[in-house]
Amino acid sequence: MAEAKTVEIAMTKLTPTIGCEIGGVELASVSNDTMAAVRDALNRHKVLVFRDQTLEPRDQLAFGAHFGEFEIHPFRESIPGHPELLKIAKEPHERTNVGGGWHTDMTFMPEPPLGTMLYAIEVPEGLGDTMFTDNQAAFDALSEGMRDMLVELDAVHCAERVHGVAATRNQSAFRQTAGQKSEATREVVHPVVRRHPESGRPGLFVNPAFTYRFDDMTEAESRPLLAFLFNHLTRPEFVVRVRWTPRTLVVWDNRCTQHFALNDYQGQRREMRRLMIKGDRPTAARTNP
Ligand SMILES: [Fe+2]
Repeated sequence: MAEAKTVEIAMTKLTPTIGCEIGGVELASVSNDTMAAVRDALNRHKVLVFRDQTLEPRDQLAFGAHFGEFEIHPFRESIPGHPELLKIAKEPHERTNVGGGWHTDMTFMPEPPLGTMLYAIEVPEGLGDTMFTDNQAAFDALSEGMRDMLVELDAVHCAERVHGVAATRNQSAFRQTAGQKSEATREVVHPVVRRHPESGRPGLFVNPAFTYRFDDMTEAESRPLLAFLFNHLTRPEFVVRVRWTPRTLVVWDNRCTQHFALNDYQGQRREMRRLMIKGDRPTAARTNP
């Protein structure tokens, strides 16, 4: 039997708990042993940054395939010929950007993506950073009483505010068939505290873009505690800010993070290529593993 090889990859932590820059890896030709180290790093650091990667669409898809099947976004338009890849671009004349608010990708779905891989094609120098939160560290920092209460709760997620008719009326980047309009109003219930399926760690799983209220409560009743959690999640000690350079690929674990794309580059162009990996149905941390 072949002995399992341990591959060393060069890792530089960006904060004590979230974010890690990885060197010495060429993603276009990554081996299975290196992938095992990358997967392990993702479980520990939640956001991985790879610099100076030359990745054609097929290379990004090949790297993504190591993580699982691809997710296709129900509302956004894909790159012609590559239904799994999204072009995330902001032109110099455009004022709003994609992802310019705290969110976890697509938690309005019953099985939100495992992770997302964003590849920088064109970035304004020193601008358009992305911030990420560590939802596990944020949960750990709560009092025992608050943690005990939250693990018993579920929350309702919905896409309407971001992808509903009113939100997308003037945005040509969105597809909106009749079926998608009704899908945008569908409500999905997820645990407020999610157990990570690989690391087993509990983490908050609410975000201001898609989490509307606690299950069996009104929005008004839910608002104060949700507002506290949204604010708590973005405390500086749980946040890492990633600076983009052309040909950087960032992979984030969508099961235990939120992110926010800064919109501070008015009049300049930014283009990224996004790939998402299918995820599983979130498991409540109150459920024994
Ligand atoms: Fe996003």
